[in-house]
Amino acid sequence: MNTKNFYVTTPIYYVNDKPHIGHAYTTVLADVLARYHRSLGDETFFLTGTDEHGQKVEKAAAARHMDPKAHCDETVQRFQSLWKRLGITNDRYIRTTDEYHKEVVRKILQNLYDRGEIYKAEYTGWYCVGDERFFTEKDLVDGKCPECGREVSSIVESNYFFRMSKYREWLIDYIETHPGFIQPAFRANETLGFLRKGLGDLCISRPKARLSWGIELPFDPDYVCYVWFDALINYISGVGYLQDDAMFEKWWPASYHLIGKDILTTHSVYWPTMLKAIGLPLPKTIFAHGWWLTGNTKMSKSLGNVVNPMDMADRCGVDAFRYFLMAEMSPGNDANFTEEGFVTRYNSDLANDLGNLLSRVLKMTLRNANGTIPTPGALTADEEELKREVASAIDTMESSLAALKFDQGLAAVMNAVRAGNRYLEKTAPWTLAKKGETERLNTVLFTAADALRQFSVLLYPVMPEKMAELRKALGYTGDELNDAKIADLRTRPCDLAGRHVQDTSGLFPRIDVTPKEETPAPAPKPADKKKKAAPVNVFAPIGIEEFAKIELRTAKILAAEKVEGADKLQKLQLDVGGEKRQIVSGIAQWYTPETLVGKTIVIVANLKPAVIRGVESNGMLLAAKSGKELKLVTIDGEFASGAQVG
Ligand code: ME8
Ligand code: MG
Repeated sequence: MNTKNFYVTTPIYYVNDKPHIGHAYTTVLADVLARYHRSLGDETFFLTGTDEHGQKVEKAAAARHMDPKAHCDETVQRFQSLWKRLGITNDRYIRTTDEYHKEVVRKILQNLYDRGEIYKAEYTGWYCVGDERFFTEKDLVDGKCPECGREVSSIVESNYFFRMSKYREWLIDYIETHPGFIQPAFRANETLGFLRKGLGDLCISRPKARLSWGIELPFDPDYVCYVWFDALINYISGVGYLQDDAMFEKWWPASYHLIGKDILTTHSVYWPTMLKAIGLPLPKTIFAHGWWLTGNTKMSKSLGNVVNPMDMADRCGVDAFRYFLMAEMSPGNDANFTEEGFVTRYNSDLANDLGNLLSRVLKMTLRNANGTIPTPGALTADEEELKREVASAIDTMESSLAALKFDQGLAAVMNAVRAGNRYLEKTAPWTLAKKGETERLNTVLFTAADALRQFSVLLYPVMPEKMAELRKALGYTGDELNDAKIADLRTRPCDLAGRHVQDTSGLFPRIDVTPKEETPAPAPKPADKKKKAAPVNVFAPIGIEEFAKIELRTAKILAAEKVEGADKLQKLQLDVGGEKRQIVSGIAQWYTPETLVGKTIVIVANLKPAVIRGVESNGMLLAAKSGKELKLVTIDGEFASGAQVG
């Protein structure tokens, strides 16, 4: 393989899963890596796709009275449309139900069988339906699945086995002599630890009696292929193995298999031994990143704590989301997703630092240079310093790219952005303009714009749309907007002087997390109003324990009257299981006092007391609002007050 060819893969995700931030992360990481390599001038191939065979799909389709393939055709769209939305530039989308893939799997199976690498035997073991994995007795943890902790079922049957065990010594040696093969290095140690405990043969078949949704074994029609054996082959079938020799020659071995740490063993043990038996070289690097957590638990559908990437992209913009994923996770480790973390990073890095630098340069250029980026005069130590900062960001980005540490590369760029803001404060172009020091002013405006130009190139793979916008603001047009190549940064001279800037101060609008006014809930205490609102968690789903903190109760309205001097407010006297309470609420537009008395409503009983317009309020009532309409949440019929709601 030409060393300038770059081939990156993601796992092929289970077609049944609803894509969440974890899937989005691996795919965006692969996309960013692919875009950087294209930007460096490397020929690049990026493969992603879906894993569509196996028991879970069979069951889900049966539950919908659907043919499994028709079910897959429908569910695969969740992934395909998400990748489109997130600007993913994969060169091919592989589905394991694609005919060409199935053909390759059958050919490999037949070949391995003919050469005695696959044999038939009786097998006793434990099976986890959720993970579609077999385990031996010693693998189990407290009799349960070692991966997910769920129940496993005992299975005795005849099956076909791949002679994986005979490659154990070879694989240990390979890993020891190829330090970059499994990354980060501690994952290589994990794999070595696993191998040293011993390695059995791999069961690669499932009797059709138990599972029919899979690729039929070419040498025994009573069996289908084990879903992992089928799935791993996607990495070679996706680049033309046994079908398009020139293509395969060009891309294999892969530069990177990007995976999460959950599927390390299948990739670092099964796959290399399969390739060895087939007679193919191993991928250069298997990189296992950590997990995205919410709270401190892994995000997963079965735990119900997932962050929906489509929602994130809709609410905060695709590029801001991509930036956050890349900047927040140090790829070897786990990362925690919180909305506070997102908002803080967005506001500080993008809205404040980068957004600010851009809007200062644009405004100064529009005001003092007729909107044209000027030609610089003589450079001083201040310019040299900023240039050094930018050059160092380029170096760090390049080295972090090689080590897959984008968080570090991005941090270096943000450092240089902050240096850009410091440079403006120090050189004070606004003062230079006032004093009429035009030549010096020109130098400063040009130098700051040139720094922005280089940032647009460095950040382009992570935020392609926003960086194209930034380039437009700097006066680029047409193809130049997306012609942001790192390879050109060191060689191509700056081509900004004479370009006309456009004001796009709204590139990264600050995310304001102040709760909306005009809700029927009591306003915060006047003292609280002055404080900056703490970010509210509007994205992440909450756990039951968080919901349980809210005490909802029924309350009977005994009396109601308008609050003097406040059109919208009413003061309600409530009975809450014998206890008297007063609540102030902004519902006067919709309910007159007479219509309220006698109703049984629902209140948040444990809300901190607040003083609204000088009147004390002890709790909050629940109401639904749609457009201009508002309705109270009421209990139908006669019902006790003070009863728990939930
Ligand atoms: O395992 N944090 O598919 P899958 C980070 N079909 N990454 C996460 C994550 C999280 N919380 N959750 C999922 C399969 N991922 C097989 C793969 S490959 C030949 C077959 C990402 O749908 C991460 O990349 O369960 C993880 O390895 C992958 O999704 C698992 O996806
Ligand atoms: Mg999984």
